[in-house]
This record gives sequence, structure tokens and C-alpha cells, in this order.
Amino acid sequence: MDWFRYQGDALFCEEVPLAELGAIHGTPLYVYSARTIRERFAAIEAAYASVPHLICYAMKANDNLSIVRMLAELGAGVDIVSGGELFRARRAGVPADRIIFAGVGKTRAEIAQAVDEGVLLFNVESADELEVIAEVAAERRQTARISVRVNPDVDPRTHPYISTGLRKNKFGIPSDQVLTVYRRARAAPFVEPVGIQMHIGSQLVQVQPIVDAVERLADLVQRLRREGFDIRYLDIGGGLGIRYRDENPEGPAVLAERILPTVRDLGVTLLCEPGRFLVGSAGALLTRVLYRKENGAKTFIIVDAAMNDLIRPALYDAYHEIWPVRRTDEPSEVVDVVGPVCESGDFFAHDRPLPRTQAGDLLAVLCAGAYGFSMASTYNARPRPAEVLVTDSTYRLIRRRETYEDLVRTEEGL
Ligand code: LLP
Repeated sequence: MDWFRYQGDALFCEEVPLAELGAIHGTPLYVYSARTIRERFAAIEAAYASVPHLICYAMKANDNLSIVRMLAELGAGVDIVSGGELFRARRAGVPADRIIFAGVGKTRAEIAQAVDEGVLLFNVESADELEVIAEVAAERRQTARISVRVNPDVDPRTHPYISTGLRKNKFGIPSDQVLTVYRRARAAPFVEPVGIQMHIGSQLVQVQPIVDAVERLADLVQRLRREGFDIRYLDIGGGLGIRYRDENPEGPAVLAERILPTVRDLGVTLLCEPGRFLVGSAGALLTRVLYRKENGAKTFIIVDAAMNDLIRPALYDAYHEIWPVRRTDEPSEVVDVVGPVCESGDFFAHDRPLPRTQAGDLLAVLCAGAYGFSMASTYNARPRPAEVLVTDSTYRLIRRRETYEDLVRTEEGL
């Protein structure tokens, strides 16, 4: 997938054999392809080239400093959801005026931090939050620019856990309450309502729900303008899907074709917040087979990576391709690929046909670049994996493997 390909029988990331990375850095190991990220970024840039726009990378997908810096150097801003992400974004060199701040539960301290930094926009998710932003901005005599996150009540047709634009979801403000919030924002001396935002869900394979929601937002922009609001930013959120299995996601070009006429008519700057689309297929989790186990009913391939390293299968029953790092002529067998953690939910694949593997073999779990390491934990006191970034035939370690000492570093009072 993308730049994970076989050359002969060996699986490569760009021009680097994964077996070499496994031997040098050990497993489990996240491996990322810089080329894939650049190509994906370029695809969105090209799609929106004809209108003023800013791609704000949703860094929750993968917040490694080197990856954030690489995207910032390509011209991206970032979409953050916490003070910690703000800290990381600034550390990675993202200019504050390219940072937008989302999230339903921003604390007063996080809001103050973002006002002090001078972020481009706050995406406001409730009337109560607006009050806190207004207070904090006034205390500091600093203007806070805001967008209101609208809940457009459209069905994104994706997994319920990553669906966010329905009225039953906690996100955004319903269209019929939006005007009141803008009026309140205008009345606050240090708040400037300049944008409108939405994000209806993640891993959207079809773009039509986004298009429908953009139309609803465009109507709201017209209404706001009639009331004298100067709305300059239209933020369509993230959500573009990728191919995990056999999906054929409509990409940014299709989306652009359908929304750019509206964006042009409105004369706004287009903002978007892609996460998965940029980094999902750029990453693989490399893992080594520890044991085989046959219990009469099933064959288990027990690997050294686990749900703490990549939780998507456990959490969403997500499908990730698993490829042997060395291709063989071994016959296929149907197996469960599982990790060492003491939970039945600790699996990477159920009933999956795989060429026969044995202890010591390397496997690559593909499309693990988004919501992989960023959702990793140390459950079962498992140090989190290392991360390597490949560029052409070179690679560098962008996060060392955690040690046992790292596991206890923050504990006190023994
Ligand atoms: N903007 C906002 C406000 C978001 O909440 C999200 C993702 C994004 C942008 C980026 O969405 P993307 O382009 O990546 O679809 N852990 C889940 C995905 C959770 C997405 C949360 N919000 C997974 O592994 O599938």
C-alpha cells in the first residue's frame, strides 16, 4: 500500500527493506514513509489550489514531532485538541497563526495558553465554552478569533464511534442555536467571530455527506452575512477515508470538485483538517512472530505487538492488512493474529488467511500510521514502541523505544 511494496520477496518501505529495520531497531516498531505523506499532502494541495486555503493537519492522528514538522515545512497548519498538542505543535515549529483549536472540553488553562500563543482560531463547541473564551481573552486584552462548530445533523455513514455530525453526538452546536452563539460572540469585546466549522466523522468513503453539510454551512454563512458578520473562514473538518481493505474512497479531488463552486461563491478561505488521509497509509507496525499455537479449533499466531501498540482492531474491530516481511511459497492457513496482552480483545486479525509463518518471522500490520502510536498505551507495563521515518533509501529513528525506567519515571512516594 502506497510505498510499502515487495521488491522480489522482500517487503520494503520506499527503498529500505523492513527486515533491516526490524534487525536494527527491534520490534514492535512503527515505520513511516515520508514519501507517502508528501504525496498525500500534495494531493490535497492540488485539489484546493484554485481557492485560498490552509490544510490544518489533525495531529491527533500522529503527533510525532518529526512528522508534524515535516508537514509544517510543506506548508501545513495543524488542528489541535489539547494544550499538550499545542505544546507539541509549537515544539515542532508550527507557527501559531496556522494553529486551530478544536474540542468540546477545552479547559480555562488550555484556552489561556492558546490565547497567549495567538492561535489562528478557536473552534467553539458550546455557548458555555464561548463565555470562558470571552473572559480569558478580555483578562488578557488579546483578541480570540473564533469559528463556531456546527453540528449539521448529517449521517456520515461510518463507524458509530467515529461519527460526529449527528444531533445525538456530543460535538458542535445545532444549526438552530448557531446564530445566538455568533451574536453573543459579537457582543464580547475581545472575541472576533470570523469562521464557521464542521467535522462530521472519520474514515468517510463517500464525500457526499461532507458536501451536504458544506451546503448547510454555506446557507448559514449567508444568513450570518445578512446580519453583518464578516465570515472569512469555512472549515470542512477532516474525515477523508483511506483503503484499509477493499474500500475505494473518494479522495480530495472528488470532494473539491463538488464543494469548490460553493467555496468560490462565498469568497472564503477554505480550511480542512485531514488526519488519517495524510498519515494512515504512510505507516506500518512491524512485529515479530513469537509462537504458533493450535488448539484444535484455531491456529493462533502470537506476535510481539499488542493492543497497547495498536488498539484499532480491539476498539473498532478495524481491519488492517497483515503482510509477511519475507514472501514465501508456504501454503495459506487461516489464523488469528494476536498479541501477548491478557485480553481476548488483543488481536490484529481474526480468521485471516496468511501464508504459514513461524517463530522469528516478521509481519507488517499496514495502514497503521494514523491513530496507531498516538493511541498507544503502556498497558501490561509494555514500553511503547520505537518509530522510524524512511525517506527514499535512508531512515532515522524519530522516537526511541521506551525503557522500563520510562515506565516508572513519573511515579512518586515509594
Ligand atoms: N477534525 C476533528 C475535529 C476531529 O475530531 C478529527 C478526528 C479530525 C479532524 C481528523 O479526522 P480524520 O481526517 O483523521 O478522519 N481513533 C479513530 C479516529 C478518531 C477520529 C477523531 N477525530 C480511528 O482510529 O479510526
